[in-house]
Amino acid sequence: MDTNQKGIPINDDEFNIELLPEDFAQYDISFKIIVIGDSGVGKSCLTTQAVRNNFEEFYQATVGFEFLTFNLRMNNNVVKLQIWDTCGQEVYKSLISNFYRNSSLALILYAINNKDSFQHAENWLNDLKNQSNPNVRVFLVGNKSDLEDQRVISKEEGERFKNEKKLDKFIETSAKTGENARSALLEAAKLLYKDYLKAKENLANGVDTNEGGNKGDRLEKKKPKPSGTKCC
Ligand code: GTP
Ligand code: MG
Repeated sequence: MDTNQKGIPINDDEFNIELLPEDFAQYDISFKIIVIGDSGVGKSCLTTQAVRNNFEEFYQATVGFEFLTFNLRMNNNVVKLQIWDTCGQEVYKSLISNFYRNSSLALILYAINNKDSFQHAENWLNDLKNQSNPNVRVFLVGNKSDLEDQRVISKEEGERFKNEKKLDKFIETSAKTGENARSALLEAAKLLYKDYLKAKENLANGVDTNEGGNKGDRLEKKKPKPSGTKCC
């Protein structure tokens, strides 16, 4: 594949961004993103909508985890997001926690029409913080925003949780209509790319700090790797 291939331009004030095909093999920097939250909140639907632009009404619980990739050109770098869509069932929690350690960013999902799933967001956050790298970035995502008539968690509650826990972002999404689905990933990519630029600058200045923290899997051109679905 021609690595200079042009992608689909995305409007952005800060960076020159192009969306690249899911199977784009070459990359300069890669980041792991983990998607966690209760079963049925829409983790698989949201990641599929964000990456592939489609939505399945039929519920099929994820077994273990699934793996998707989202490729972007940001300024002059090809950025690969490796997205680990986990299953929310209690029985798999210890398996999933193995993936926390290498994640640069976590999306913690709840559904706006499900109070329990919002209350459990704190447990997911604690599990993550116990095992992840200390600089992990965290977005709180209130999914199923299309179900406004069934809403039991207000936007203010989501915002408050994000502020109290000092998370990086709160966003409401709908995997069904697509509202903010791709934006959530783009915002994640931008934040991680900024962390990367900061770490690179610190390195060049001889500053030994992990500020920003997410250096990514970077500074080397990687060999092509196959992308696809992985399950246990
Ligand atoms: P596990 O794999 O069991 O952890 O669940 P999950 O979090 O991956 O949930 P999944 O994406 O499979 O979605 C569960 C159900 O919610 C499915 O029937 C979806 O069609 C539905 N759903 C997911 N997202 C939305 C949304 O944004 N709006 C609406 N109305 N339904 C959604
Ligand atoms: Mg799932």
